Amino acid sequence: MSRTALITGAGRGIGKACSQKFADYGYSVIIPSRNEMDLNSRESIINYISSLDCDIDVLVNNAGINPLANIGSIDFDSAGELMNVNFWAPVFLTELLAPRMKNRGYGRIVNISSIWSGVTKAGRSMYASSKAAINAFTRNAAVEFGPYNVLVNAVAPGYINTELTKQNNTPEQIENIKKNLPVNRLAEPEEIAELIFFLASEKNTFVTGQTIFADGGYSLL
Ligand SMILES: NC(=O)c1ccc[n+]([C@@H]2O[C@H](COP(=O)([O-])OP(=O)(O)OC[C@H]3O[C@@H](n4cnc5c(N)ncnc54)[C@H](OP(=O)(O)O)[C@@H]3O)[C@@H](O)[C@H]2O)c1
Repeated sequence: MSRTALITGAGRGIGKACSQKFADYGYSVIIPSRNEMDLNSRESIINYISSLDCDIDVLVNNAGINPLANIGSIDFDSAGELMNVNFWAPVFLTELLAPRMKNRGYGRIVNISSIWSGVTKAGRSMYASSKAAINAFTRNAAVEFGPYNVLVNAVAPGYINTELTKQNNTPEQIENIKKNLPVNRLAEPEEIAELIFFLASEKNTFVTGQTIFADGGYSLL
């Protein structure tokens, strides 16, 4: 049976690798750009979802932003946008799509969290809070939708070779991070897409409510 996956933030990075992976496996892939569905605007999300004329079997809440700010210098407009994109948009999309998955008796939702939901680093208080919140939401959604074969999980990547990592770390910092990682390298987005794809596929029949850390061992040290 052909399945349809909606993936946010698929213009680059992990989302792009994910959309390629789903397409390779025969999924119809819906990848709205920011112009089509701005995750900072609830109205934009409603308009986009109402315009769809197909059922969504898989939702990957991937888009995320991470403007750094130490406590004492938090810009609350920027923090509000971060919370909208990283937390409220996934919640809102789940609110809109999970009841329809429940009615059809099938659905898979994968929320992209972060290592910073479990461990932390200066300047990431808002980002870490948004990602810890999405882990909690994931657990709850899994409990509410489990009886209807709608499985909900989170993937918490560590350092991945994407624009986001380059934006928040200098080349020297990235070299240092690599040295200190048990696997001595960053992951490529495709490696995270593999895990997302498994959790979102029909092969996943029993994993739900989990936050799986894919971080090359970073959080062990
Ligand atoms: N990279 C890492 O090391 C890392 C580590 C842990 C967790 N993560 C998480 O993994 C996910 C993907 O990260 P990434 O590194 O692949 O990010 P990325 O390369 O920066 O890409 C982010 C994507 O999100 C989209 N986006 C941002 N704001 C949006 C908005 N208001 N409306 C619609 N789309 C929006 C961007 O669209 P535009 O192209 O329009 O900007 C872009 O396609 C994020 O949730 C991130 O927090 C990443």
